Amino acid sequence: MNEGADDGGGGGAEGAARSLGCGRGGDGFVPSALGTREHWDAVYKRELQTFQEYGDTGEIWFGEESMTRLIRWMQKHKIPLDASVLDIGTGNGVFLVELAKLGFSDVTGIDYSPSAIQLSGSIIEKEGLSNIKLKVEDFLNPSAKLSGFHICIDKGTFDAISLNPDNAVEKRKQYVKSLSRVLKVKGFFLITSCNWTKEELLDEFSEENGFGVRPRTLPCVAADGLLTGV
Ligand SMILES: C[S@@+](CC[C@H](N)C(=O)[O-])C[C@H]1O[C@@H](n2cnc3c(N)ncnc32)[C@H](O)[C@@H]1O
Repeated sequence: MNEGADDGGGGGAEGAARSLGCGRGGDGFVPSALGTREHWDAVYKRELQTFQEYGDTGEIWFGEESMTRLIRWMQKHKIPLDASVLDIGTGNGVFLVELAKLGFSDVTGIDYSPSAIQLSGSIIEKEGLSNIKLKVEDFLNPSAKLSGFHICIDKGTFDAISLNPDNAVEKRKQYVKSLSRVLKVKGFFLITSCNWTKEELLDEFSEENGFGVRPRTLPCVAADGLLTGV
């Protein structure tokens, strides 16, 4: 893992947490470039170059432990290996690689940054894995094909969207709508956040916000000890 570039990365859980604006004051978020596509595309362009030059896969947001927690949760809840899994804002795709290595056979990663998808593709190819699907998609405007997922995973993406300088409140609502569209009835939503408490997330992904028709949908926070664990 590298130390991340400028404000885009930051070694391990604490660095990632800091750079996503954790520790926000009061109720609001301070708008930031971290909520923009231009920022992430520049980050992953640099990370792609580093990967090509040194083989370094780049930042794992919230550290390796965040992936272990999600995997532990999936194993504990006996999620079948053929369950369809969507990683929303996959970044370097390292979590997809971990899932595929564990035997998950229907794994998709999306990101609105073409450089992120290019980096994920390169890492996946180097790992010799061929059955992972990757797509450049803006989750706030998902294609019709993106639907029917049993598990949706978000690690840091909703946090980034919450920092968008251009009407973040509306973008958060759009996120909830998109999630309702792509997630199967009785699917699970696993979210790792450093900017939101568990209670806030349960509110945000609630019936009042149009997310109530899926009784088994489970927002959960696994924020590396920064907030309530799962
Ligand atoms: C903090 S990074 C986390 C990356 C990855 N999930 C991880 O854990 O390493 C946030 C990611 O969300 C992506 N992203 C942000 N907004 C998005 C959107 N509207 N649609 C798709 N991807 C988005 C960014 O390009 C970036 O890869």
